[in-house]
Amino acid sequence: MTLLPQGPLLEAESVSKRFGGLRALDAVSFTLEAGELVGLIGPNGSGKTTFLNVLSGFYTPDTGCIRFMGRRIDGQEPATLAARGIARTFQITKIFRRITVLENLLVPGLTDWTIGRQAAGEKARAILARLDLERLMDAPASSLSGGQAKLVEFGRVMMLEPRLILLDEPFGGVHPTLKRLMHDTIRDWNAEGRSIILISHDMGSIFDLCARVVALHAGRVIADGTPEAVRNDEAVIRAYLGVDDTGAAS
Ligand SMILES: Nc1ncnc2c1ncn2[C@@H]1O[C@H](COP(=O)(O)OP(=O)(O)OP(=O)(O)O)[C@@H](O)[C@H]1O
Ligand SMILES: [Mg+2]
Repeated sequence: MTLLPQGPLLEAESVSKRFGGLRALDAVSFTLEAGELVGLIGPNGSGKTTFLNVLSGFYTPDTGCIRFMGRRIDGQEPATLAARGIARTFQITKIFRRITVLENLLVPGLTDWTIGRQAAGEKARAILARLDLERLMDAPASSLSGGQAKLVEFGRVMMLEPRLILLDEPFGGVHPTLKRLMHDTIRDWNAEGRSIILISHDMGSIFDLCARVVALHAGRVIADGTPEAVRNDEAVIRAYLGVDDTGAAS
Protein backbone atom coordinates (compact mmCIF):
# COMPACT_ATOMS: atom_id res chain seq x y z
CA MET A 1 0.00 0.00 0.00
CA THR A 2 1.13 3.55 -0.66
CA LEU A 3 2.52 5.74 2.10
CA LEU A 4 -0.04 7.44 4.27
CA PRO A 5 0.01 11.16 4.95
CA GLN A 6 0.74 12.15 8.55
CA GLY A 7 -2.16 11.95 10.97
CA PRO A 8 -4.97 9.49 11.60
CA LEU A 9 -6.51 7.37 8.85
CA LEU A 10 -10.02 8.52 9.70
CA GLU A 11 -11.27 11.50 11.66
CA ALA A 12 -14.90 12.28 12.38
CA GLU A 13 -15.33 15.68 13.96
CA SER A 14 -18.56 16.53 15.74
CA VAL A 15 -20.71 14.63 13.24
CA SER A 16 -24.48 14.95 13.66
CA LYS A 17 -27.35 13.35 11.78
CA ARG A 18 -31.03 13.91 12.47
CA PHE A 19 -34.08 12.08 11.22
CA GLY A 20 -36.94 14.51 11.83
CA GLY A 21 -36.73 15.33 15.51
CA LEU A 22 -34.52 12.35 16.33
CA ARG A 23 -30.80 12.88 16.82
CA ALA A 24 -29.40 9.62 15.49
CA LEU A 25 -25.87 11.04 15.79
CA ASP A 26 -25.22 13.88 18.17
CA ALA A 27 -21.80 15.51 17.75
CA VAL A 28 -19.84 12.28 17.38
CA SER A 29 -16.07 12.70 17.31
CA PHE A 30 -13.97 9.66 16.58
CA THR A 31 -10.43 9.03 15.39
CA LEU A 32 -9.05 5.84 13.89
CA GLU A 33 -5.35 5.28 13.40
CA ALA A 34 -4.13 3.22 10.46
CA GLY A 35 -4.05 -0.47 11.39
CA GLU A 36 -6.60 -0.27 14.22
CA LEU A 37 -9.43 -2.78 14.66
CA VAL A 38 -12.11 -1.06 16.72
CA GLY A 39 -15.33 -2.54 18.06
CA LEU A 40 -18.41 -0.31 17.95
CA ILE A 41 -21.08 -1.27 20.46
CA GLY A 42 -24.24 0.24 21.91
CA PRO A 43 -27.86 -0.70 22.55
CA ASN A 44 -30.38 -0.98 19.69
CA GLY A 45 -31.02 2.38 18.07
CA SER A 46 -27.90 4.01 19.52
CA GLY A 47 -26.67 5.16 16.11
CA LYS A 48 -24.10 2.52 15.13
CA THR A 49 -25.45 1.80 11.65
CA THR A 50 -26.09 5.49 11.07
CA PHE A 51 -22.44 6.19 11.87
CA LEU A 52 -21.30 3.57 9.36
CA ASN A 53 -23.70 5.06 6.83
CA VAL A 54 -22.15 8.51 7.13
CA LEU A 55 -18.61 7.10 7.00
CA SER A 56 -19.38 5.15 3.83
CA GLY A 57 -21.28 7.93 2.04
CA PHE A 58 -24.78 6.46 2.32
CA TYR A 59 -25.80 9.47 4.42
CA THR A 60 -24.48 13.01 4.41
CA PRO A 61 -24.02 14.36 7.94
CA ASP A 62 -26.04 17.47 8.82
CA THR A 63 -23.07 19.04 10.55
CA GLY A 64 -19.48 18.13 11.29
CA CYS A 65 -16.82 16.77 9.00
CA ILE A 66 -15.13 13.50 8.14
CA ARG A 67 -11.57 13.17 6.91
CA PHE A 68 -10.04 10.06 5.41
CA MET A 69 -6.29 10.06 4.77
CA GLY A 70 -6.30 13.78 5.46
CA ARG A 71 -9.02 14.70 2.95
CA ARG A 72 -12.68 15.68 3.49
CA ILE A 73 -15.02 12.87 2.45
CA ASP A 74 -18.38 13.79 4.00
CA GLY A 75 -21.06 14.06 1.34
CA GLN A 76 -19.20 11.92 -1.20
CA GLU A 77 -20.95 9.02 -2.93
CA PRO A 78 -20.52 5.43 -1.67
CA ALA A 79 -18.96 4.36 -5.00
CA THR A 80 -16.42 7.19 -4.83
CA LEU A 81 -15.49 6.21 -1.28
CA ALA A 82 -15.25 2.53 -2.23
CA ALA A 83 -12.78 3.50 -4.96
CA ARG A 84 -10.84 5.53 -2.41
CA GLY A 85 -10.52 2.57 -0.07
CA ILE A 86 -13.59 2.37 2.19
CA ALA A 87 -15.57 -0.87 1.90
CA ARG A 88 -18.45 -2.15 3.99
CA THR A 89 -20.91 -4.93 4.68
CA PHE A 90 -24.55 -4.43 5.65
CA GLN A 91 -26.55 -5.33 8.75
CA ILE A 92 -29.20 -6.77 6.41
CA THR A 93 -27.12 -8.67 3.85
CA LYS A 94 -27.20 -7.10 0.40
CA ILE A 95 -26.20 -9.50 -2.34
CA PHE A 96 -27.62 -10.06 -5.81
CA ARG A 97 -29.62 -13.25 -5.35
CA ARG A 98 -30.41 -14.01 -9.00
CA ILE A 99 -26.81 -14.16 -10.19
CA THR A 100 -24.11 -16.61 -9.18
CA VAL A 101 -21.78 -16.36 -6.22
CA LEU A 102 -18.84 -15.67 -8.56
CA GLU A 103 -20.79 -13.01 -10.48
CA ASN A 104 -21.57 -11.28 -7.18
CA LEU A 105 -17.84 -10.62 -6.84
CA LEU A 106 -17.54 -9.41 -10.43
CA VAL A 107 -20.24 -6.75 -10.30
CA PRO A 108 -18.95 -3.63 -12.11
CA GLY A 109 -18.12 -0.92 -9.63
CA LEU A 110 -16.84 -3.50 -7.15
CA THR A 111 -14.32 -4.87 -9.56
CA ASP A 112 -11.38 -3.03 -11.02
CA TRP A 113 -11.89 -3.97 -14.67
CA THR A 114 -8.61 -2.31 -15.66
CA ILE A 115 -6.96 -5.55 -14.52
CA GLY A 116 -8.92 -7.36 -17.26
CA ARG A 117 -11.75 -9.82 -17.19
CA GLN A 118 -9.63 -12.92 -16.78
CA ALA A 119 -7.51 -11.49 -13.97
CA ALA A 120 -10.67 -10.30 -12.20
CA GLY A 121 -12.13 -13.80 -12.49
CA GLU A 122 -8.97 -15.35 -11.07
CA LYS A 123 -8.88 -12.88 -8.21
CA ALA A 124 -12.54 -13.62 -7.41
CA ARG A 125 -11.94 -17.38 -7.48
CA ALA A 126 -8.95 -17.06 -5.14
CA ILE A 127 -11.06 -15.00 -2.73
CA LEU A 128 -13.90 -17.53 -2.83
CA ALA A 129 -11.40 -20.30 -2.07
CA ARG A 130 -10.17 -18.35 0.93
CA LEU A 131 -13.77 -18.02 2.13
CA ASP A 132 -14.49 -21.71 1.52
CA LEU A 133 -17.10 -20.82 -1.12
CA GLU A 134 -15.23 -22.06 -4.20
CA ARG A 135 -17.40 -25.13 -4.70
CA LEU A 136 -20.48 -22.86 -4.69
CA MET A 137 -19.13 -20.27 -7.11
CA ASP A 138 -21.51 -21.18 -9.95
CA ALA A 139 -24.54 -21.60 -7.71
CA PRO A 140 -27.17 -18.88 -7.64
CA ALA A 141 -26.59 -16.65 -4.64
CA SER A 142 -30.20 -17.34 -3.61
CA SER A 143 -29.17 -20.89 -2.67
CA LEU A 144 -26.79 -19.74 0.07
CA SER A 145 -27.40 -19.84 3.81
CA GLY A 146 -27.53 -16.52 5.66
CA GLY A 147 -23.95 -16.98 6.87
CA GLN A 148 -22.67 -17.88 3.41
CA ALA A 149 -24.42 -14.83 1.93
CA LYS A 150 -22.63 -12.73 4.53
CA LEU A 151 -19.35 -14.31 3.38
CA VAL A 152 -20.16 -13.19 -0.19
CA GLU A 153 -20.27 -9.65 1.20
CA PHE A 154 -16.85 -10.34 2.75
CA GLY A 155 -15.69 -11.48 -0.70
CA ARG A 156 -16.89 -8.24 -2.28
CA VAL A 157 -14.98 -6.30 0.35
CA MET A 158 -11.84 -8.28 -0.59
CA MET A 159 -12.27 -7.51 -4.30
CA LEU A 160 -11.91 -3.82 -3.41
CA GLU A 161 -8.66 -4.27 -1.44
CA PRO A 162 -9.78 -1.48 0.90
CA ARG A 163 -7.76 0.38 3.47
CA LEU A 164 -10.78 0.75 5.79
CA ILE A 165 -13.40 -1.96 6.29
CA LEU A 166 -16.73 -1.27 8.00
CA LEU A 167 -18.61 -4.35 9.24
CA ASP A 168 -22.20 -4.00 10.46
CA GLU A 169 -23.23 -6.97 12.65
CA PRO A 170 -21.54 -9.69 10.58
CA PHE A 171 -22.12 -12.52 13.08
CA GLY A 172 -25.89 -12.34 13.65
CA GLY A 173 -27.50 -15.76 13.12
CA VAL A 174 -24.31 -17.20 11.61
CA HIS A 175 -23.32 -20.87 12.19
CA PRO A 176 -20.34 -21.17 14.60
CA THR A 177 -18.11 -22.69 11.90
CA LEU A 178 -18.71 -19.74 9.57
CA LYS A 179 -18.32 -17.34 12.47
CA ARG A 180 -14.85 -18.77 13.15
CA LEU A 181 -13.99 -18.30 9.48
CA MET A 182 -15.20 -14.70 9.72
CA HIS A 183 -13.06 -14.11 12.81
CA ASP A 184 -10.00 -15.52 11.02
CA THR A 185 -10.72 -13.39 7.94
CA ILE A 186 -11.08 -10.23 10.02
CA ARG A 187 -7.79 -11.01 11.81
CA ASP A 188 -6.07 -11.65 8.46
CA TRP A 189 -7.34 -8.34 7.05
CA ASN A 190 -6.04 -6.53 10.08
CA ALA A 191 -2.67 -8.34 9.87
CA GLU A 192 -2.45 -7.14 6.26
CA GLY A 193 -2.63 -3.59 7.60
CA ARG A 194 -6.29 -2.87 6.90
CA SER A 195 -8.19 -0.83 9.47
CA ILE A 196 -11.54 -2.12 10.64
CA ILE A 197 -14.60 -0.86 12.47
CA LEU A 198 -16.66 -3.81 13.68
CA ILE A 199 -20.22 -3.33 14.93
CA SER A 200 -21.41 -6.28 16.96
CA HIS A 201 -23.75 -7.14 19.81
CA ASP A 202 -21.64 -10.28 20.26
CA MET A 203 -19.37 -9.25 23.12
CA GLY A 204 -17.43 -12.51 22.88
CA SER A 205 -16.38 -11.61 19.33
CA ILE A 206 -15.62 -8.02 20.29
CA PHE A 207 -13.39 -9.20 23.15
CA ASP A 208 -11.72 -11.77 20.89
CA LEU A 209 -10.91 -9.38 18.09
CA CYS A 210 -10.68 -5.80 19.30
CA ALA A 211 -8.10 -4.03 21.45
CA ARG A 212 -10.27 -0.91 21.51
CA VAL A 213 -14.01 -0.50 21.87
CA VAL A 214 -16.18 2.58 21.38
CA ALA A 215 -19.68 2.68 22.87
CA LEU A 216 -22.53 4.77 21.50
CA HIS A 217 -25.74 5.64 23.29
CA ALA A 218 -28.47 7.90 21.94
CA GLY A 219 -26.14 9.10 19.20
CA ARG A 220 -23.27 10.02 21.51
CA VAL A 221 -19.94 8.41 22.28
CA ILE A 222 -20.17 7.41 25.94
CA ALA A 223 -16.97 5.35 26.27
CA ASP A 224 -13.78 4.67 24.34
CA GLY A 225 -11.08 2.33 25.63
CA THR A 226 -10.06 -1.28 26.16
CA PRO A 227 -12.88 -3.85 26.00
CA GLU A 228 -12.48 -4.47 29.72
CA ALA A 229 -12.71 -0.77 30.62
CA VAL A 230 -15.70 -0.16 28.35
CA ARG A 231 -17.57 -3.21 29.62
CA ASN A 232 -17.18 -1.99 33.20
CA ASP A 233 -17.93 1.64 32.40
CA GLU A 234 -20.89 2.90 34.42
CA ALA A 235 -22.43 4.90 31.59
CA VAL A 236 -22.23 1.82 29.35
CA ILE A 237 -23.87 -0.41 31.96
CA ARG A 238 -26.64 2.17 32.47
CA ALA A 239 -27.18 2.45 28.70
CA TYR A 240 -27.61 -1.32 28.33
CA LEU A 241 -29.94 -1.50 31.32
CA GLY A 242 -32.12 1.15 29.68
CA VAL A 243 -31.69 3.52 32.57
CA ASP A 244 -31.42 7.22 31.75
CA ASP A 245 -29.18 9.69 33.55
CA THR A 246 -31.82 10.48 36.15
CA GLY A 247 -31.72 6.82 37.18
CA ALA A 248 -35.22 6.09 35.88
CA ALA A 249 -35.79 3.11 33.57
CA SER A 250 -36.68 4.30 30.05
N1 LIG B 1 -33.32 6.29 7.49
C1 LIG B 1 -33.82 6.52 8.69
N2 LIG B 1 -34.95 7.27 8.86
C2 LIG B 1 -35.47 7.54 10.07
N3 LIG B 1 -34.90 7.13 11.22
C3 LIG B 1 -33.78 6.40 11.14
C4 LIG B 1 -33.17 6.06 9.89
N4 LIG B 1 -32.06 5.34 10.13
C5 LIG B 1 -31.97 5.21 11.46
N5 LIG B 1 -32.99 5.85 12.07
C6 LIG B 1 -33.20 5.96 13.52
O1 LIG B 1 -31.97 6.44 14.09
C7 LIG B 1 -31.69 5.79 15.32
C8 LIG B 1 -30.37 5.09 15.21
O2 LIG B 1 -30.51 3.98 14.35
P1 LIG B 1 -29.33 3.01 13.94
O3 LIG B 1 -29.86 2.10 12.91
O4 LIG B 1 -28.14 3.82 13.59
O5 LIG B 1 -29.07 2.23 15.31
P2 LIG B 1 -28.15 0.98 15.61
O6 LIG B 1 -27.28 1.37 16.74
O7 LIG B 1 -27.51 0.50 14.38
O8 LIG B 1 -29.21 -0.09 16.15
P3 LIG B 1 -29.24 -1.70 16.01
O9 LIG B 1 -28.32 -2.22 17.09
O10 LIG B 1 -30.67 -2.05 16.30
O11 LIG B 1 -28.81 -2.05 14.63
C9 LIG B 1 -32.86 4.85 15.59
O12 LIG B 1 -33.79 5.52 16.43
C10 LIG B 1 -33.45 4.63 14.20
O13 LIG B 1 -34.82 4.34 14.27
MG1 LIG C 1 -27.61 -1.21 13.29
